[in-house]
Amino acid sequence: MSTAAARVEVRTALLDADGPSLRAMEALLSPGERERAARFAFEEPRRAFVASRGRLRLLLAGFAGGRPEGLRILEDDLGKPRLGGECGQGRWRFNVSHSGGLWACAVALNREVGLDLEEIRPGRAVESIMNRYFSPAEAAALAALPGGEREAAFHRVWTRKEAWLKARGLGISIPLDSFEVSHGPGEARLLATRPDPGEAGRWTLRDLDLGPGYAAALCLEGTGPAEVRVRPA
Ligand SMILES: CC(C)(COP(=O)(O)OP(=O)(O)OC[C@H]1O[C@@H](n2cnc3c(N)ncnc32)[C@H](O)[C@@H]1OP(=O)(O)O)[C@@H](O)C(=O)NCCC(=O)NCCS
Repeated sequence: MSTAAARVEVRTALLDADGPSLRAMEALLSPGERERAARFAFEEPRRAFVASRGRLRLLLAGFAGGRPEGLRILEDDLGKPRLGGECGQGRWRFNVSHSGGLWACAVALNREVGLDLEEIRPGRAVESIMNRYFSPAEAAALAALPGGEREAAFHRVWTRKEAWLKARGLGISIPLDSFEVSHGPGEARLLATRPDPGEAGRWTLRDLDLGPGYAAALCLEGTGPAEVRVRPA
């Protein structure tokens, strides 16, 4: 892997596609994506999926070349979308997240990337989620914080954990307490991974500021310098 600073481009957008713009997005989708959209039982997630995939295709065509509607978006065994390898397009790695109407996508060249974005919803059952899903060390660290700091720290842990899972394409196939991340507002770090402790040294975590009311984190394959640029799509 090159020692030059890795570049990660993050693009954000509001998922408010409606009427004509939603139809324009729909026209970019593959037959498989249209079938998937038609299977949604509810209109809101259907629209979010169509708008998300349409935006993704427009964005990826800008980086990888080709027509947005012509890109081959494949999914690996656990569902992580990837670009097909034609004409070098498979060198581009990306990951999408959407929450509370906000959409974000990270794009990197030749390095796996994961992005997680969560709307901060006041009143969420933070204590029960952290006790049930986080590692004992993470839950204890959050429990020791003053109440006013716990919610922000909880969302940092959540998005950092999820960003690593998404970079690896693991989804929820491994226990969430089998690895640990830092919780403080400073440097985001992958502290421990089990059963392979070496995994923790193979990834870079960064918090992302995508606007008030949201927590977000990025995970990039490799360590060393990385330049992360966040812009509206
Ligand atoms: C599907 C999953 C990858 C992310 O789900 P999520 O956080 O609800 O959704 P996000 O908006 O962040 O990401 C969805 C996008 O991730 C991508 N994705 C899907 N499967 C993926 C996988 N295995 N790996 C990486 N990315 C994946 C897709 O682009 C998807 O977008 P689409 O629905 O428009 O196709 C999965 O990890 C999950 O369900 N996680 C929840 C685990 C949990 O309970 N975490 C608690 C705190 S740690």
